[in-house]
Amino acid sequence: MSATTKVPVAVRALESFARRFGGRPAVLARAPGRVTLIGEHVDYSDGLVLPMSIDRDCVSAVRVSNDGRWRAWSDDLQSLAELPDPATASTAPRATGASAWSNLALGVLAGFAREGVRVPPLEMAFASDVPLGAGLSSSAALTVSLATAVAEALSAPLFGIPLARMCQEAESEFGGVPCGMLDPLASALGRADHAMLIDCRSLDVRFVPFPPAARVALLVFDSGVHRSLSDGRYAERRHEVEDAARAAGVGMLRDLDETKLRTLKLPALFERRARHVVREIQRVQLAANALRRDDMELFGLFMAQSHQSLRDDFAVSTPELDALVDEARALGTAGGVYGARLTGAGFGGSVIVLADAARTGIGERIAAGFERRFKRPASWQRVSSAPGAAVIPAARWPAA
Ligand code: GLA
Repeated sequence: MSATTKVPVAVRALESFARRFGGRPAVLARAPGRVTLIGEHVDYSDGLVLPMSIDRDCVSAVRVSNDGRWRAWSDDLQSLAELPDPATASTAPRATGASAWSNLALGVLAGFAREGVRVPPLEMAFASDVPLGAGLSSSAALTVSLATAVAEALSAPLFGIPLARMCQEAESEFGGVPCGMLDPLASALGRADHAMLIDCRSLDVRFVPFPPAARVALLVFDSGVHRSLSDGRYAERRHEVEDAARAAGVGMLRDLDETKLRTLKLPALFERRARHVVREIQRVQLAANALRRDDMELFGLFMAQSHQSLRDDFAVSTPELDALVDEARALGTAGGVYGARLTGAGFGGSVIVLADAARTGIGERIAAGFERRFKRPASWQRVSSAPGAAVIPAARWPAA
């Protein structure tokens, strides 16, 4: 951990706002990152997912400005970007290089403009302790916290599912990642001590109690392979899935079941991709039932199957992610581990491990195993569930 990440993010947001723009913002809002407990690469096939919002946040500080400019500062990237007028965003060129991150902010402002909200010039500062590019949804934490702050600053009645939809569009159209609704919904609607069973077709959200942190520890291991999902590999999977659905004669792979899939004899690549989606959707349902019954061992078995499927059929794992999962599985339930799997889109990023909180040394053992294999340390942290996005009332702002 670096020294700056130890300063609470709300303090960093306020301090960096003051340094860049002077004075205090009008609004502070926070939005969390998430882990996907299970249900990966199925949101864009209208599938079921089971994420949980976690105690790592992006905080947005926002103020209407009178200098006629839209400016955004990322404290984590130490980057200041000037944005075009959001009303003209659809035709404006996208930012590239060091300020490419600011396209996400522009996408959010453009979303408000599309809703008919007049977006005046704004000063915006962001600080986050959701690790960037690590599969914990740092982008949605940024877009959802900004949308929450802007809605408050402009008194625009936008929250919940429509706000999440706007953030998904911001990421797809401006961030270059044709993502689904998983991340913004988890960040916008999460509830402390609960996972969320989301039906990405109906957008029905059910909250499933997650065991208290005193009983089940959620460990996140960073594989150290960071990636940007706008590099095209995520989009490639999405296209493959769409092509597979077309070949199977269904609108979405959600509409396919395993028996039908077997009779179709699709080309091998489509068969593998479709098999992952069809089985993963089933697993989410079963895993949510296991969680409701507080059966963590069974839940862990579904996590193992999910990882295997992402590795073999969906081909988004990496040797580093597989090694972390193998090290965790080698400890097994006898060693206090319920389950482990990659979380997020894959291609690098993080592995989550659910473990018996009463057992000590689990994280250290997994990290040591990783270090033996790759001759470099794996950083890990314990996270816990936390509520979804919210405006931080001024009375609760930290003294900056
Ligand atoms: C990324 C995307 C999500 C989802 C996951 C994979 O996090 O933003 O929409 O597709 O990958 O489950």
